[in-house]
Amino acid sequence: MNKITVIGAGNVGATVANVIAHKDLAREVVLVDIKEGTAEGKALDIWQTGPINNFNTRVTGVTNDYLRTKGSGVVVITSGLPRKPGMSRDDLIKTNAAIVKEVTEKVIKYSPEAIIIVVSNPLDVMTYAAFKAARKSSRKVFGMAGILDTGRYKTFISNALNVSAKDVHGLLLGGHGDTMVPLPRYTSINGIPVTDLLGKEELDKIVERTRKGGGELVNLMGTSAWYAPGAAAAQMVEAIVDDQQRVFPVCAYLTGEFGLNDIYLGVPVKLGKNGIEEIIEIKLNEDEMKMLHESAASVKETMNALDALGLFEDEA
Ligand code: NAI
Ligand code: 2OP
Repeated sequence: MNKITVIGAGNVGATVANVIAHKDLAREVVLVDIKEGTAEGKALDIWQTGPINNFNTRVTGVTNDYLRTKGSGVVVITSGLPRKPGMSRDDLIKTNAAIVKEVTEKVIKYSPEAIIIVVSNPLDVMTYAAFKAARKSSRKVFGMAGILDTGRYKTFISNALNVSAKDVHGLLLGGHGDTMVPLPRYTSINGIPVTDLLGKEELDKIVERTRKGGGELVNLMGTSAWYAPGAAAAQMVEAIVDDQQRVFPVCAYLTGEFGLNDIYLGVPVKLGKNGIEEIIEIKLNEDEMKMLHESAASVKETMNALDALGLFEDEA
């Protein structure tokens, strides 16, 4: 790919740009921030690891200069405030929605064909905000959370069983919050059902720790995580750039799938050069479906809160 833009050169944005450059996914990565010098400095620092770590991607940093993002094939939006201790993801809604709206409108002006991946929190509703601002197919505007949350879930399982994390396969649905729905029934160690290897009590603990995984890191560091979120967003970029048709949990717009309508929620999708190539409607049992709908209700509440702000009224 010729150009990829990452908006927000903070902890997550810089990490996404760093991973993209190290994987040589584009000729150029453009990092954008509003703080003068931040994106320029971090981009230069990452670029200077090229000769050491052996990659070609040029890393450019700019302050609010969207002309330099022109012609991007993929845009990753990480701009916004991160969670602080005691703050829920939903507390962030007002500030971050205005930021996401503004940057989406600016970037889409110069890259109307770009596929947009949203990372800013609260994730499901910020993805909805970007969708409203971008005014393009929902198959090209989606959010990153499921790969991160599944990464945490798989790490805890690999630790509990003392097996390689590479052999843990699993799925997790729902919103990026405490109502997310990890699915032990769809989790295996290279095909061996995890439910045969771990008891219910231990699995319940892992599910609970996964649900609170973001908060655990916020409490430890005083801000939210960036290595795993950055790697997860870059993995989505890679699937698109290389047209890999990979199956990941992604925050996608639903139009009837799983009995849900007009909502952005984490579901399994196939990712390729066109963005979301397909939403995969897996079979859920009654309990799993109930949890998914509860998660959807909580996301819908935040989406309604966004609508109530009237940010997009002129676009109705
Ligand atoms: P950070 O504070 O380190 O970086 C955010 C950057 O955005 C700052 O450099 C800031 O100057 C910039 N920014 C603010 N307004 C901007 C604008 N209008 N245009 C361009 N840049 C702007 O925060 P961090 O840790 O990088 O987190 C970024 C976002 O990602 C937060 O909302 C956080 O909650 C979210 N997040 C989401 C995850 C997910 O799974 N979806 C995981 C981790 C973080
Ligand atoms: C995370 O899950 C806070 O969304 C952020 O790390």
